[in-house]
Amino acid sequence: MVADIRAVVAAAPLFTPETTHGHKMSVRMTAAGDYGWISDRRGYRYAPRHPDGGVWPPIPASVLAVWKAVAGVDRAPQCCLVNWYDDHARMGLHQDRDEADLSLPVVSISLGDDALFRVGGIDRGGPTRSIWLRSGDVAVLGGAARLAHHGIDRLRPGSSTLLPKGGRINLTLRVVD
Ligand code: SIN
Ligand code: MN
Repeated sequence: MVADIRAVVAAAPLFTPETTHGHKMSVRMTAAGDYGWISDRRGYRYAPRHPDGGVWPPIPASVLAVWKAVAGVDRAPQCCLVNWYDDHARMGLHQDRDEADLSLPVVSISLGDDALFRVGGIDRGGPTRSIWLRSGDVAVLGGAARLAHHGIDRLRPGSSTLLPKGGRINLTLRVVD
């Protein structure tokens, strides 16, 4: 799967998204599928093209197989977001709610170094729990948890040998429209 993701990155290079306030996010991103998810000063949105103008490469079969095994729905994912974390990258607490049908799950695959995943409830500011996600872990945000707030507080650098230069890849699969 890592080789498949390297091929995705070769076709659709990683970029550094910016928030609407112009702050650079600490993860680097790209995507595969019909849509990528991009964020810049104009806002965040699903987009049919990479910021450099090209179409996104197809979602690799190895990744689709995980969706088929765990998603429990007939639809195929339309977006495989690729988040690339270096030792210091993090992801603030947020909800995934830009998709048309929120009854369909989000499937997340972790590769590389361990990451401290924080998950809370639907309301912002409520209690949260933290779980170390390890390489090969698959998390499904579905049902009552579909709109749970979630984020990554930090990595545990050096905890996995999967990626020769360290770091972490997270793949997030979603049906968009
Ligand atoms: C995300 O919510 O976009 C990423 C979550 C993760 O990196 O595990
Ligand atoms: Mn998310």
